[in-house]
Amino acid sequence: MKESFKAVKITDTVYWVGAIDWTLQDFHGYLTKRGTTYNAYLIMDEKITLIDTVKLKYKNELIARISSVVDPGNIDYIISNHSEMDHSGCLPEIIKLIKPEKVFASKMGVKTLAAHFPGNTDIAEISAVDDLGTLNLGKLTLKFIETKMLHWPDSMFTYIEEEKFLFSQDAFGMHLATNHMFADEADEGIVYYEAGKYYANILLPYSDRILKLLEQVTEMKLEINYIATDHGPIWRKDFDKVFGWYSKWAVQKPEKRAVIVFDTMWGSTELMARAVSEGIKSEGISSKVLHLAGNHRSDIAKEILCAGAFIAGSPTINNKMFPTMADLFCYLGGLRPKNLIGFAFGSYGWSGESIKHLEEELKDMDVEITGPGIKAKYVPDDEILKECFNRGAEIAKRLKAH
Ligand code: FEO
Repeated sequence: MKESFKAVKITDTVYWVGAIDWTLQDFHGYLTKRGTTYNAYLIMDEKITLIDTVKLKYKNELIARISSVVDPGNIDYIISNHSEMDHSGCLPEIIKLIKPEKVFASKMGVKTLAAHFPGNTDIAEISAVDDLGTLNLGKLTLKFIETKMLHWPDSMFTYIEEEKFLFSQDAFGMHLATNHMFADEADEGIVYYEAGKYYANILLPYSDRILKLLEQVTEMKLEINYIATDHGPIWRKDFDKVFGWYSKWAVQKPEKRAVIVFDTMWGSTELMARAVSEGIKSEGISSKVLHLAGNHRSDIAKEILCAGAFIAGSPTINNKMFPTMADLFCYLGGLRPKNLIGFAFGSYGWSGESIKHLEEELKDMDVEITGPGIKAKYVPDDEILKECFNRGAEIAKRLKAH
């Protein structure tokens, strides 16, 4: 592998030595249609230092890329910025192989790694670093910045002071397999979409902490030449743009657009969804109508990020909502999007409980319900469709008034 998998030089001292996962489709329930990367970095100083490792499956790729720069046995330090297994999965084997002088993690990281690899004596010896503590590598100095709950309790950033090089672990990242090393080389539209999808699906519940982190970075006057994330390309410019995206996504100021999500048995709930959309359109507001048969929960989470309205439709099946809707609400409820208005609709044949269940879920998500759910027995007639249209128009007027 050594001849085929090489490190990529980022600066005179920092190399990318990670792995590209072109085939990943499922990242714990998140559809990663464009694959991902597991980024690891090598710092060449008097103390040669490896920042993070990769998913276990890609251990040999990591070793091959390191070997294209230096004998892995010469690595002195390993830093674990975050202990989720996509970055730590091969850590025990890497420690055994290269026998570094020291391995470092945040205080919480020491505990979390020990819990991931119970009984592993190498992992048990990992040293804790302090928040804002430093580590001298020779010419370069590393500074550690705890970023608890962004997105794990043990998460931290590592920053090379002299190079203004920030290793941000999952923050500012995206699931995007690419041969482009830098974000500014990749398609801008794809980068924006995938960064937003990553935020919506991974970081959204921690938005308050994101805002504090952005404040902290400003207060610390942290100068930045590079942001090297654990997934996707590296940022070497446009930092204000990226921070602006994060600030916007964290605040979740509602945009004047609606998302209508539905599933359907015989087309009745679909027809209602279309009528709601027509009503929204009649007021000059855009909406997306997303059928759960063809839209993954993680893509819907992306659409709902900063939307103004979330309108949910489901027929009743065996006294329940459609199972795809239950899946969606379970997922979205955990992500806790904010500042939404909406209502429920759906068809039924016998009892029609889906509306009640949908409304309970909407309330659980703190969606402001704009009126009673709309029910259609078997097939919506003109009156029901008109009601769907009017309620859509009412939503649009509310969004316009913001
Ligand atoms: Fe990329 Fe939180 O692991």
